[in-house]
Amino acid sequence: MILDLPKWFDLHTHFRQGEAVGDYVRAHVAMGCAGALAMPNTRPPVSRVSGDATEDSWSIEGYSEVLREAGAGVFEELIVPLYITRGTTAEMIVEGARSGGLRACKYYPPHGTTNSEHGVPMAELVGGPVLKAMEEAGVILCIHGEQHGLAGAAYFDSGRNAESAFYGDAMPGLLEAHPRLRIVCEHITTKEAVAFVRGADGARVGATVTPQHLLYTVGDLIQGLKYHLYCLPVVKFDADREALREALGVRGQRQFFAGTDSAPHSAKVTECGCAAGCFTGGCAPQLYAMGFEAGGRALDVGAFEAFLCTNGPEFYGFPVSAERFQMERVAGEAVALNTAVGEVVPLPLGMGLSLDWRII
Ligand code: DOR
Ligand code: ZN
Repeated sequence: MILDLPKWFDLHTHFRQGEAVGDYVRAHVAMGCAGALAMPNTRPPVSRVSGDATEDSWSIEGYSEVLREAGAGVFEELIVPLYITRGTTAEMIVEGARSGGLRACKYYPPHGTTNSEHGVPMAELVGGPVLKAMEEAGVILCIHGEQHGLAGAAYFDSGRNAESAFYGDAMPGLLEAHPRLRIVCEHITTKEAVAFVRGADGARVGATVTPQHLLYTVGDLIQGLKYHLYCLPVVKFDADREALREALGVRGQRQFFAGTDSAPHSAKVTECGCAAGCFTGGCAPQLYAMGFEAGGRALDVGAFEAFLCTNGPEFYGFPVSAERFQMERVAGEAVALNTAVGEVVPLPLGMGLSLDWRII
């Protein structure tokens, strides 16, 4: 079986900073990716729209230039969202939107994930000038939807977790306070988040889903402590994975789209634990296809194409790619990416998972 598809867009990925950026971008280009939304949780964070880099911050303009020079110049689209910090102002939003440099902002729960320490709690943003300015200007809010500051059973238990708490407690108030704000619920993992997205106005609320959350559950993570599968939000339970698979398989759905959260870490295991992030550069469309086929489902090509190639551009308001790429249903193996900062192990290799598809 061969799929002939428009080139796709990864609407949530990490290209980092430093010498390996070009290697990460190349791995994306090699898998038929025509463009990306590159996350701003770099060091330093991308917390201004324009201007020169300083020790404490990068601008969207400056970081985009770094990415383009490293190879992202071939992309049809490159979106870098603004990292919302305590320094973010309504004026920055208004100016940025007017100049065209600002298309999205990123909410990080403070201390909730990699390089998220500059984030501002959602409760402090709701109803405030920054979100109001975004709403006015049509700037999209990308949300890492986990309640910050939770521990133990409140953070992760069978009946509740930081994500279900966030979608239950914080999201309704956000929608109500900002009725025109457009939102992407990123890397959703729970049946509660799926239900929230499906219950919301599709023109306003979209969501990205990663390959790992379609393929794995927490049992896969803890059996042997498979740190290559450790990412945030953590993989959940079978009912959650089923809710994701079901939502993506609905013909004609427009709300869910690809955002891999591919997160290269050259040092995955550190002295104080494990860096969060699954690297899926080079193999994301293959893994997504496997997610669509999981549980004995036949691949619904229409639903797959909508999820991978067209829903994302339509939500963000840019054209679907006119270029095409092909995937063939042939077994293969993922390979480690050699980068300027060392080897980065892609998720399937770390998990001993063979690929059922290859890019041709
Ligand atoms: O697993 C994750 N890795 N989740 C995030 O939210 C951030 C990302 C990273 O930057 O490594
Ligand atoms: Zn991410």
